[in-house]
Amino acid sequence: MSARYQFTGATAATISASIESGIRTGALAPDAVLPSVRALAADLAVSPATVARAYQELRQRGVLTTAGRHGTRVRPRPPVAARRSALRPAPLPGARDLSRGEPDPRLLPPIGPHLAALAADAGPPVGYSQAGVLPELAEVARARLRADGVPAEDLTLTGGALDGIERLLGAHLRPGDAVAVEDPGWANLLDLVAALGLRPIGVPVDDEGPLTAGVAAALSAGARALVVTSRAQNPTGAAVSAARAKELRALLAGRRDLLLIEDDHAAELARVPLHPLAGTTASWAFVRSVSKPFGPDLRLAVLAGDETTVARVTGRTRVGAGWVSTVLQRLVLALWRDPAVDDLVGRAAQSYELRRTGLVAALAEHGLTAHGRSGINVWLPVPDETSVVTALRDAGWVVAPGALYRIAAPPAVRVTVSSLAVEDLTPLAAALARATRPDLPSGFAT
Ligand SMILES: Cc1ncc(COP(=O)(O)O)c(C=O)c1O
Repeated sequence: MSARYQFTGATAATISASIESGIRTGALAPDAVLPSVRALAADLAVSPATVARAYQELRQRGVLTTAGRHGTRVRPRPPVAARRSALRPAPLPGARDLSRGEPDPRLLPPIGPHLAALAADAGPPVGYSQAGVLPELAEVARARLRADGVPAEDLTLTGGALDGIERLLGAHLRPGDAVAVEDPGWANLLDLVAALGLRPIGVPVDDEGPLTAGVAAALSAGARALVVTSRAQNPTGAAVSAARAKELRALLAGRRDLLLIEDDHAAELARVPLHPLAGTTASWAFVRSVSKPFGPDLRLAVLAGDETTVARVTGRTRVGAGWVSTVLQRLVLALWRDPAVDDLVGRAAQSYELRRTGLVAALAEHGLTAHGRSGINVWLPVPDETSVVTALRDAGWVVAPGALYRIAAPPAVRVTVSSLAVEDLTPLAAALARATRPDLPSGFAT
């Protein structure tokens, strides 16, 4: 791929601009291997130090990654938008796409009736001076968080969970700082950490959440922030158990040098209780998005935290995007208050649980140990991701290669169960079993 791309530039800035341009046009695909520093320097008749500076700058912005002997590559999802024509091709016609990690649109509560009610009662336009978190929304959000044991005196809103996490990391850390993240963990978070120029330290995960010893090791290695997914961990489905929460709270108690971020994105969809860590450290934030239960297009998350942390996020938002639209806030409030919506979300949660546990059980019949305690994904350790993904594609199923989610964790594939029907489980498990050798590793924690 990269061999055909005509790199240009005589300075670090123009060389990195040429690489970015290659990514935008699709000439440099995600994962494309770049020439070695020496080879490109010779091609462009510049010094190796110039090329090294260009690579370094793009690494700090999360565009490139260096994997030891494997050289420098384009990140799988670099923070540079490719042209539409360069985006990944749609799966073959008839193939079932289980790679997306999206909720089933048929199980999202319909927003039409609430939008109509809002339209009928729109009131006067809201201007800059009245904007902010609506007090009535804050009150309901507080009650919902407190019911789950999360202290919610101070809270604000962000445009989704990842926006909240970006603002938190931006407010507390500087490029080069280390962040402890789950390994395997959410690909978008790994991409964000890279794009912010932060250093990820992987913390191994089992079904009960991040391993306490892994968190302790990350702290010893200098992590300035720790991101924990409370439930429906992506990709493994892990949920922090009562016992793990107790251990982690003891480990983190009173720490003043660590920003603790909890991502409770499954929220009302989670069928397991929340065991929060919130309030354990001096700097903490608990982020709960509405994406999964109510719809990813409702870009809103509630962010509770200590007073300073919340004030930093609110203040930084004010000098940037400003606030989360009160139109969206009113829509979310209406959804929260509607018992029929509660019912639908409960039914969606139950339906995801059936498909997830059904697939894990069907795989167990083939002697395969898969993971999926909560959420919409099943994580299946495999000996070789590429061959499994390819064999499944040939059998008409698209699954996500684990490489997108891993730092040092062993290989696996992620199967999103949200669009599966119960009748799909047996043929899918059989296809996964055929694609996977029988001598599997039994877990994903290292
Ligand atoms: C771990 C995790 N956190 C958060 C989200 C949702 O993020 P957002 O609120 O930005 O849509 C997802 C969605 O897939 C996720 O997997």
